[in-house]
Amino acid sequence: MNTHLFKNIVILTGAGISAESGIRTFRDQDGLWENHRIEDVATPEAFHRDPELVQRFYNARRSQLKDPNVQPNAAHLALAELEHAWEGDFLLVTQNVDNLHRRAGSQNLLHMHGRLDQIRCLSCEEVIVWTEDLAVNESCPQCGIKAALRPDIVWFGEMPHHMDEIYFALEKADYFISIGTSGNVYPAAGFVQLAWKARKIEINVKDTEISRAFQEHLIGPASIEVPKLVRQILGE
Ligand code: APR
Repeated sequence: MNTHLFKNIVILTGAGISAESGIRTFRDQDGLWENHRIEDVATPEAFHRDPELVQRFYNARRSQLKDPNVQPNAAHLALAELEHAWEGDFLLVTQNVDNLHRRAGSQNLLHMHGRLDQIRCLSCEEVIVWTEDLAVNESCPQCGIKAALRPDIVWFGEMPHHMDEIYFALEKADYFISIGTSGNVYPAAGFVQLAWKARKIEINVKDTEISRAFQEHLIGPASIEVPKLVRQILGE
C-alpha cells in the first residue's frame, strides 16, 4: 500500500496552467492584460466608472471559453487524475476564472478569484450561472432589478473567496504544489508560508517572486512538468 496517498495535498494554480490552452496570462505582456491596464478593467472603481467597458471585457473572456480550441491541457487532466487516485484530503485552489479545471474533471476545487461562468447581483446578492454575454442593463433573473449584475470575479481591492477553507487545508497540508503563478498577488502568494509542514514544490517556466520559499523547483511548461510530477507522486 502507498501510505503517502493518505496524506493531505493542496495545489495552487495560476494563469500559467491555462497558457498552453490558449488563455493569456496577466503579467507576461508588458503589464497589459489583453491590451488593457488591469486597473481599467479589474477593479470595483473601473466597473463604477465604465461598466460598459468592463462588461465587454469580461464578455470577451467568457466567450473565449466556448472557443473549440480552448480545451483543458495535459496539466489540468493530470491534476484531475491525481485527485481521483488520492486517498487523503485533496484541495485544488485556483486563481484562474476559466472553467478548465472543472472541464478536466477536478472536483474538490475552489475558485478564489471567482468564475467567468457566474455572475452576481449587487442588489439581491444571488450568484447565477451565466455563459452568455451580459448587457449592462440586464435584469436580475432573481429579483428583477435592472443594471445590478456584475461578473462574479474578485477584483483588486476585494476579498478572495473561500479563505477560511483554504487556510484550514494549508495548515494540515503534507504537500503544497504551486503551478503557473507569478507570486505577485496576495493572499495566494503567501500560501507557501502557511503550509508550514508541507513538502513545497513550484512548477513554472521561470523563477518567480516567491521561488525561494519552495524546496523543489520544476522549471518547464506545466503540460510537461505536471504530468511528470503526478506520475512520480503516484508511483512513490
Ligand atoms: N507553464 C508554467 N508556467 C507558465 C507557463 C506554462 N506554460 N506560461 C507562463 N507561466 C508562468 C509565468 O512564468 C508566470 O509566472 O505563469 C505565471 C503567470 O503569472 P501571472 O500572469 O501573474 O498570473 P497569476 O499568478 O495567476 O496572477 C494572479 O493576478 O491579475 C490577477 O486575479 C488575477 O488571478 C490573477 C492574479
